[in-house]
Amino acid sequence: MANPVERLAYAAAQTARVGWYFGQYFVSARLARGSMPRPKISGATPRTQAILAELRALMLRDWRNIEAGLYRLPHNLVEPPHRALADARAYFRDLPKVNDRRRARGNAEVFRTPPAGTPKLPRYYLQNFHYQTDGYLSDRSARLYEHQVEVLFGGGADAMRRQALVPIHHYVKHRVPENVRLLDLACGTGPMLAAVRDNHPRLELTGIDLSAPYLAEARRRVGRGRGPLRALREGRGRPVRYVQAAAEAIPLPDASQDLVTCVYLFHELPRKVRAQAAAEIARVLKPGGQFVFLDSLQAHDRPDFAGLLEYFPQAFHEPYYADYVKCDLAGLFGKAGLDLAASDLVFMSKLLVFEKPS
Ligand SMILES: C[S@@+](CC[C@H](N)C(=O)[O-])C[C@H]1O[C@@H](n2cnc3c(N)ncnc32)[C@H](O)[C@@H]1O
Repeated sequence: MANPVERLAYAAAQTARVGWYFGQYFVSARLARGSMPRPKISGATPRTQAILAELRALMLRDWRNIEAGLYRLPHNLVEPPHRALADARAYFRDLPKVNDRRRARGNAEVFRTPPAGTPKLPRYYLQNFHYQTDGYLSDRSARLYEHQVEVLFGGGADAMRRQALVPIHHYVKHRVPENVRLLDLACGTGPMLAAVRDNHPRLELTGIDLSAPYLAEARRRVGRGRGPLRALREGRGRPVRYVQAAAEAIPLPDASQDLVTCVYLFHELPRKVRAQAAAEIARVLKPGGQFVFLDSLQAHDRPDFAGLLEYFPQAFHEPYYADYVKCDLAGLFGKAGLDLAASDLVFMSKLLVFEKPS
């Protein structure tokens, strides 16, 4: 249970965090001015004040969950200053290249000249998503990724991911943790795995992603900063297994996982691949198992955000996003054999929980 000192620490840390990342968002927007396309949108766009109010609501919800014991106060709300500064420096050093790519609509660099050592990968994946340098295919991209996402969400990305810990908590509390297997699909650099491991160190965790550099970064990051005292108290936590593979061809046996999480993947998949990935998730889940989905809001979710969702794929190369925001997710996963059990909106994301019938 959280105490008043933790409450104060949380409030101070989140205020600093939002200031740090939102500030960088504004500077980035200014630097990107000449490269941003003219918006072709019909829906409403929220004002900055409205977005800040939503961020505050997210933080309040995050705090209430901590207070209710659904997950711990995260240890990484504020990065050590040397790391925060190094990340910001690397981000701003890279930003002109992102802006140049956006100006030139340059989204195929990684297809034409993939970084050395890139294995054979699906064509739809070989793109500079978000116009980012090296797409998902280099160590440099992997090191920048989490910072880029936090800037985009004004410091709210990790707090949104933590909402997925709530259904995980409710699932695990009735079970022996050592017997629970969780797969984080498209784990990227491991932010969801890190949050799960900090809260449930005894689960058997697997992370799957198509990017070898992102998996290598996840290996470095997950478990970092837990501190010697906590590590001593809880043991080292079970090692995480990392597998380079596609979501549409998961190399795990049928009915082998109790929980599957998937964060910010589906908006990056073509329609056909979304259906294949949904079928794979249903296949690897045990009967009675749960799938916890977190991804972008969809078109019908928030009319007051509709313009933002229209503009996002125009400004950050997201070739499948416009189709994703119209996708019937309950239908997609229902067709794969999963029943929708819960649905919620979290700032810029939506959280869905599906069950595989017993
Ligand atoms: C937007 S990032 C999300 C990463 C992470 N889940 C997070 O919360 O930040 C998308 C991730 O999906 C991975 N990815 C994209 N298509 C994939 C696929 N078909 N199979 C597995 N991973 C994929 C990318 O390599 C990248 O790490």
